[in-house]
Amino acid sequence: MNPFTLCGTLIHAPVCGEIEVIENALVVVDAAGNIAGVYAPEAEKYAIVKETAVAANSLITLAKGQYLLPGLIDLHVHAPQWPQAGNALHLPLYTWLQEYTFPLEAKYADLEFAEKVYTSLVDTLIANGTTTTLYFATVHLEATKLLAEICLAKGQRALVGKVAMDNPAECPDYYRDESVQQGLADTRALIEYVRAMPGNENERVLPVITPRFIPSCTDEMLTGLGELAEEYDCHVQTHCSESDWAHNYVLNRHGKHDTQSLHDFKLLTNKTVLAHSCFISDEDMATIKQQRSGIAHCPLSNAYFADAVFPARKALDLGLDVGLGTDVSGGATPSLLENCHTAVTASRYLDGGVDAELPQPERGIQGSRIDFKEAFWMATAGGGKALDLNIGLFKEGYAFDAIIVDTKVAGSNLVVWAELDKAEDILQKIIYNANRQNIRQVWVQGKLVGGTDH
Ligand code: GUN
Ligand code: FE
Repeated sequence: MNPFTLCGTLIHAPVCGEIEVIENALVVVDAAGNIAGVYAPEAEKYAIVKETAVAANSLITLAKGQYLLPGLIDLHVHAPQWPQAGNALHLPLYTWLQEYTFPLEAKYADLEFAEKVYTSLVDTLIANGTTTTLYFATVHLEATKLLAEICLAKGQRALVGKVAMDNPAECPDYYRDESVQQGLADTRALIEYVRAMPGNENERVLPVITPRFIPSCTDEMLTGLGELAEEYDCHVQTHCSESDWAHNYVLNRHGKHDTQSLHDFKLLTNKTVLAHSCFISDEDMATIKQQRSGIAHCPLSNAYFADAVFPARKALDLGLDVGLGTDVSGGATPSLLENCHTAVTASRYLDGGVDAELPQPERGIQGSRIDFKEAFWMATAGGGKALDLNIGLFKEGYAFDAIIVDTKVAGSNLVVWAELDKAEDILQKIIYNANRQNIRQVWVQGKLVGGTDH
């Protein structure tokens, strides 16, 4: 790859709750696709950096009305559930899994079907500006390998897990790991396969140990997966205290919360991402912080399947590494931007309350609200921290994973008024009204991989 320098207005969130805007910034990208430097016009080296890029014919200048943002990081997607996104949202979690989701996921024994769906999903996520996705696949080793290959070929940064689920009491006969040994062997095979994929030398695609959630796994499986996490030092993902049913199931079976149980199985590491986590206690939050694990806040999905709002304000104030997840298809949209504004909206319901019959001071949990800046941090830098990867920011040494959003696309819902809107207002408008038609370019590791210009 040839190094290049991008010149334009960048907007990012190095600190949770704060937005940094640099107009006419220069972002220097090296041959490996990493950021070699970020320069504001007042920087001493600005002129020489710009001249060097011009001389090398490698300066890319953004057009007026275009903004450079970090690529979006989706911490929770069920790739096989893409065909049912926007569907089957009327049931509680347990019934939804048994009646809709497990039958759909079982179809990925068919690699032709898997290829069709996974290709469509990865294209869609990239078009929506998602440069990194943490994926649950299915129990099938071969289809999971295929998902990893498709992400690699299409240029998305991806973390891909073969789902482990072997508990006959909770998983149907037609869809579960044959045995603990088989499930662990397939997890090991997936890790080794992804790490050795030709073209993946820079580890843009990473393997993930993926116990679906405690109910679907036997203790033997959880023990074995914890050992694999230690042996391979790779990422871990699972669902944690998502709904009343899931949370209470673990309380009944293990006599403790998901967080404590996962910790006991050595599944809480700095590379672990816990989806949902709506019902975690203060003690659980302290454990998650101590283990430096991350949380995938899935605000839209939670409205349908958790019947509770994740206390994002509290978790952020405690300094937890919280990012956002669409949870396709528990969440109906593949757009992380939509989940950004849903995160704000959900926190407003939590803060203001929902029962109009109660007097206002008793209606909600005051002090629970977050705003678009915190939501944007979660969708970018927070996601990067949760994954322990140098992504989500424009900073020297970080990967150049970025999107270029165009606010001047005709016929778009995103309309900026030059005489009124400041850069922060524009970011807020992007979060609320940008669509894939506004996403002109999507860059991963210094490579253009999508967007309407692609
Ligand atoms: N808990 C276990 N499996 C799932 C799933 O596929 N989606 C969600 N939202 N929760 C789960
Ligand atoms: Fe999920």
